[in-house]
Amino acid sequence: MNLKDVLRMGPVMPVIVIHDLAHAKPLAKALFKGGIKVFEVTLRTDVALDAIRIMRDAVPEAIVGAGTVTGPDELEAALGAGAMFAVTPGLTRELAESATGPALPLLPGVMTPGELMAARDLGFDALKLFPAREAGGVGMLRAMAGPFPDVLFCPTGGVTLETAPSYLELPNVACVGGTWLAPADRMEAEDWDGITRLAEQASALRVK
Ligand code: 3PG
Repeated sequence: MNLKDVLRMGPVMPVIVIHDLAHAKPLAKALFKGGIKVFEVTLRTDVALDAIRIMRDAVPEAIVGAGTVTGPDELEAALGAGAMFAVTPGLTRELAESATGPALPLLPGVMTPGELMAARDLGFDALKLFPAREAGGVGMLRAMAGPFPDVLFCPTGGVTLETAPSYLELPNVACVGGTWLAPADRMEAEDWDGITRLAEQASALRVK
């Protein structure tokens, strides 16, 4: 699976934090109904790996990845749970080495030109700018397009429905990531129709 193609499948990748496993299936269905085809389920809770399994079963057409992967053990666990790609907040040599071969396509987080160059040296040209807002946001991505035109980004961290369009009009941005599509309060309230509406709004954003 080519990660650049995955990033181009929709304008927004929801960054999902699941606390209650019972939410995994209805959440996946609600997001997919709203047009979202790629999910990032963060490994920040005890139920995250099971949630990945459930979401894949619930929506077989979706591409379900694991997020907040910080080491080889988590990468292996994600692969075992059926994750189809992995997202990391930053890149280490160990992670890069475990992601080669039959393992998972990796979307590594970078924040500086030096980190970008190190990631590229290790073979990665699809990157997450993280945390995007704090890293300089749109201005930073514009500046990176000059020296690194081959790198495609998914900026994540501090991106909102309101700020997403200014990212999505950049030529080196394929999509943005954000938690706003699966807010904790709406999940708690089991407001799946509300989440579908958030997904529809996000899916309607245009990428240049
Ligand atoms: C995270 O850390 O959860 C991601 O950066 C996305 O967070 P946000 O969309 O809430 O900023």
